[in-house]
Amino acid sequence: MRKIAVLTSGGDAPGMNAAIRSVVRVGVEMNMEVFGVNHGYAGLVAGNIRQLRARDVGGILGKGGSFLQSARCPEFKTEEGQMKALHVLRETGIDALVVIGGNGSQTGAYALSKRGFPVVGIASTIDNDLYGSEITIGVDTALNVILEAIDRLKVTASSHERAFVMEVMGRDCGYLALMAGIAGGAEAVIIPEVETDPEAVAEEIRSAYERGKTHALVVVAEGARYNATKLESYFKENHERLGFELRVTILGHVQRGGTPSAFDRILASRLGEAAVKAVDDGETGVLVGLISDQIVRTPLQEVNTHKKTLDPKVVKLARVLAR
Ligand code: ADP
Ligand code: F6P
Repeated sequence: MRKIAVLTSGGDAPGMNAAIRSVVRVGVEMNMEVFGVNHGYAGLVAGNIRQLRARDVGGILGKGGSFLQSARCPEFKTEEGQMKALHVLRETGIDALVVIGGNGSQTGAYALSKRGFPVVGIASTIDNDLYGSEITIGVDTALNVILEAIDRLKVTASSHERAFVMEVMGRDCGYLALMAGIAGGAEAVIIPEVETDPEAVAEEIRSAYERGKTHALVVVAEGARYNATKLESYFKENHERLGFELRVTILGHVQRGGTPSAFDRILASRLGEAAVKAVDDGETGVLVGLISDQIVRTPLQEVNTHKKTLDPKVVKLARVLAR
């Protein structure tokens, strides 16, 4: 009987549990023995592995986080760490590994694959910065958490005619900020992909007030050169000249902890199945993702050498809608 293992790695994302559940149940259905690796690559290096049966993944579908625990493992970036992991996989008789995670995790998956081990990646990160999937597991839920916060912030901002800046996650990618800006009706969006001058932000806020708005909301991506903290100090230093203050909310890890949305549960369930099918077809060294609503296998080599970009038309739309 073939043996496959599954792990979650990097920042946890809502829907990871649905993906694990799908890998286990589809694997069992296809006559495979499925093993769960605890704590991502750290658990792989340490041999922290146990068999998972269909009932072991009951009750996790609707929970955020990862029931296998996720981790960041610097050791796995080294040759020594990867050789230890390979040793564990071979000792346990595992035939293939499924890696649920984002950019860094799929770089790790590619490293193992280059060393000759069959690996399939599942696109999962709230950052949506992974080439090979238009949308990744966790993004939809994270966006909804951000929107709830924005809606609440606008209530208080309007009552005081205040200007607010909300910083959202995304690492070096502005996807979450851009989409939250559009869906939340922000007056300005600041993303790493577009160089933004704080004076231009001040001008946007001023002009929003002049157009009769009762509040001004700026959504900034954490990876932007002027993140919330830097904008705050700039506005403080130039307070008298600019004529208004900026209140700051840094949303932080609350964005990762949402209850997975229907979209994320379904995406994760489909990608889990797709990963097991890729193993069954003997087509490994690939990432499974969603492109034009189709499940697509993209070679990990391609995933690791291409950067996902934001659509400039959507960036423009965010500006137009802020009028
Ligand atoms: P994410 O997958 O969410 O982008 P990270 O970038 O933190 O998260 O990566 C998660 C883990 O993937 C790292 O802690 C490390 O174990 C592994 N990893 C990241 N980059 C590499 C690399 N260049 N080579 C091997 N493994 C890597
Ligand atoms: O990759 C997911 C993510 O939440 C990023 O948006 C963020 O920059 C990072 O992880 C935070 O990492 P940590 O949980 O280690 O603070």
